[in-house]
Amino acid sequence: MKIGVLTSGGDCPGLNAVIRAITRKGADLDYEVVGILNGWKGLFDESYMALNSKTVAGIVNRGGTILGTSRFSPFEQKNGAETLQNRINRANFDAVITIGGEGSMHIAQLAQNLGINVIGVPKTIDNDISGTDYTFGFDTAVQIATDAIDRLHTTAESHHRIMVLEVMGRHAGWIALYSGMAGGADVIVIPEIKVTVANIIEVLKNRYIKGKLFSIIVVAEGAEFLMDEFKVNEEDKKFDEFGRARLGGISHYLANEIEKRTGFETRTTILGHVQRGGVPTAFDRMLGTRFGIYAMEMVEQKKFGRMCAIQANVIVDIPIAEAIGKLKTVDLDIYKAAQVFFK
Ligand code: F6P
Repeated sequence: MKIGVLTSGGDCPGLNAVIRAITRKGADLDYEVVGILNGWKGLFDESYMALNSKTVAGIVNRGGTILGTSRFSPFEQKNGAETLQNRINRANFDAVITIGGEGSMHIAQLAQNLGINVIGVPKTIDNDISGTDYTFGFDTAVQIATDAIDRLHTTAESHHRIMVLEVMGRHAGWIALYSGMAGGADVIVIPEIKVTVANIIEVLKNRYIKGKLFSIIVVAEGAEFLMDEFKVNEEDKKFDEFGRARLGGISHYLANEIEKRTGFETRTTILGHVQRGGVPTAFDRMLGTRFGIYAMEMVEQKKFGRMCAIQANVIVDIPIAEAIGKLKTVDLDIYKAAQVFFK
């Protein structure tokens, strides 16, 4: 068997752990494993690298992806489907393992529909892929955001300020909720629950009355407000290569509004891509490794058109179509439980 492996979409810590595990398991099975560079684009360009114990040595703890990535969609290109099929045939790939997020899984499904044998491995710091309890990258992002909250706490307290921390997560509030709870934030704003600025100010004022002269607000980049406060004009929206709206910056609007309405000195931190960089946590290395080994077992069993997943700490596989059917938004029970702290 000859297996192509690619990483597609935004990078995240843990990708190299998957690539290493796929390669090592592949060697055990006596398969030839080839890395496709820069996502699906590498197939079009025919940019490949050999994956063997030498090329994957020492990468389990490295962030990013040794294969490179892109948000290139073959199906957005002229004669894309034909070119894709042609490249797969020319390279003699029996299967392609796609390590990607929700956008990349859509492409994987389209490729599968063409008759290309595809196996999906879910990744994203956003943790928003259905059918899997976790995606690797998320735990690392949460740890980075939690560290940031810890640091903001000491300076907020010293200066009696309001600190607004904006985290990633696209249209799901997982990173905001988990880091906010772990870091002891006083307000967490997530896309799943719309609030008004007045709701937030009420919490800040309550704390002030109780003698707590500082507060930490964690806001997800995709948060939306009731009454459409801070809504971005359609014509000002920017999109990524997958055609999805680029987010970021909402914390500036929120901080300005808080300062204007309360007089409390307020500062903003946008954590941005720091959340996607650096070494993966042990959890993400472990999850990536388990996914990589399992993905190769899926190839062996010809479980094409399916994606590996973790459910109640057991690695399973589900149809890719099921994973992309619906975005996995936050568990509202966890959010409700956290409200005990927003007072
Ligand atoms: O999907 C991962 C993610 O980091 C999102 O949280 C964020 O909105 C987006 O990617 C940023 O993408 P880019 O790397 O293109 O700026």
